[in-house]
Amino acid sequence: MTTGRGKIPVAILGATGVVGQRFLKRLADHPFFEIAYLAASDRSAGKKYKDACLWHLGGEPFAGYGDMVVSACSPDSAPAPLAFSALDADVAVSIEAAYAKSGAFVFSNASAYRMEEDVPLLIPEINSDHLGILERQQARRGWKGAIVANPNCTTVMLVSPLAPLDRIFGIEAVMATSMQAISGAGYPGVSAMDIQGNVIPHIKKEEPKVESEPLKILGRLLGTGVSASFASSHFPVSATCTRVPVIEGHTIAVSVKLKGNPSVEDVVAAMKSFEPDTAGLGLPSAPERFLAVSDQADRPQPRKDVEIDGGMRITVGRVRPCPILGIKFIALGHNTERGAAGASVLNAELAYVKGALALAQEEYERRTA
Ligand SMILES: NC(=O)c1ccc[n+]([C@@H]2O[C@H](COP(=O)([O-])OP(=O)(O)OC[C@H]3O[C@@H](n4cnc5c(N)ncnc54)[C@H](OP(=O)(O)O)[C@@H]3O)[C@@H](O)[C@H]2O)c1
Repeated sequence: MTTGRGKIPVAILGATGVVGQRFLKRLADHPFFEIAYLAASDRSAGKKYKDACLWHLGGEPFAGYGDMVVSACSPDSAPAPLAFSALDADVAVSIEAAYAKSGAFVFSNASAYRMEEDVPLLIPEINSDHLGILERQQARRGWKGAIVANPNCTTVMLVSPLAPLDRIFGIEAVMATSMQAISGAGYPGVSAMDIQGNVIPHIKKEEPKVESEPLKILGRLLGTGVSASFASSHFPVSATCTRVPVIEGHTIAVSVKLKGNPSVEDVVAAMKSFEPDTAGLGLPSAPERFLAVSDQADRPQPRKDVEIDGGMRITVGRVRPCPILGIKFIALGHNTERGAAGASVLNAELAYVKGALALAQEEYERRTA
């Protein structure tokens, strides 16, 4: 589905990093969006993209953008009506706000605004209606543009299989232990000396995100327009986050207490029959299947399952009884696609087909005419 307009020019903020490169690859031939600016820190600005970063991905080197000159990360240096942000949270705070203030829509991977009361923490398949908070965000902050966040890369693997269980049964408590890939730490990330043949049982600032974000995502949007607000879900989540020697793919072991103590069969049926909000919208980055349940005893595995459906599928396996909380299972997803770049692009596609980006595009066309 398109609006009949031309493609929307986009800026990739943090284009030289691990997630930024994924953005390039995803957006290089996108039906709605076209890359207009690659932006990064002052260390990279002014250099050709191929001289500013080490390309980590397969396929065409630099996604064909090796000769594009990197801009500074500001709406003056890289003006676009739409920005994809792969910035670290500390720099994202001011840069993303400057873009939103300038009239741009920012689709962000950073944690900076995720838990703000007027920012949608979006997974289009689960809480697409949360986009309805944007009018309030714009009114409250005096922005013409807006910020839309996607969740932490472990949260999405946890909350995706929980969503159907919450809808059908209701959740009372969750306990989860993650086994997170090295690429989740950016580049160069964890040193080989530290991670080779090892498990690191701590990831800085990660557990509070995994414990709090699911409650916002599974919460409800109340009211409309400038009066809209979120009502969070209320159940305890206890998370332990670890780093393991895997390149791509976060695996998470989950135990969950559900209302009414449903059987394993009922839980599997609930996951398999989950109808994503995106069904029928024709979003280019939406996976053919959002949530798959494997009945193989030794799946999901990062090496075998993480790339399925362009890295946008969540695969669940080993659904079985838990003697403490009732049900336990394993979930896996691609941290730099489903947990980062792919998630942001999917959010932007949803906003596009819902018509939320049209004003930003018109405003930009007026400014640059
Ligand atoms: N990796 C994942 O699996 C993952 C998943 C979900 C969310 N995220 C989030 O996505 C963001 C990016 O992560 P990453 O793994 O891609 O990190 P990364 O590889 O370290 O890349 C960071 C990017 O930010 C730029 N940058 C750094 N300081 C800057 C500044 N002062 N001004 C402007 N740009 C600056 C860097 O540019 P230079 O090259 O010029 O330094 C680089 O392009 C983080 O917020 C992270 O938490 C990551």
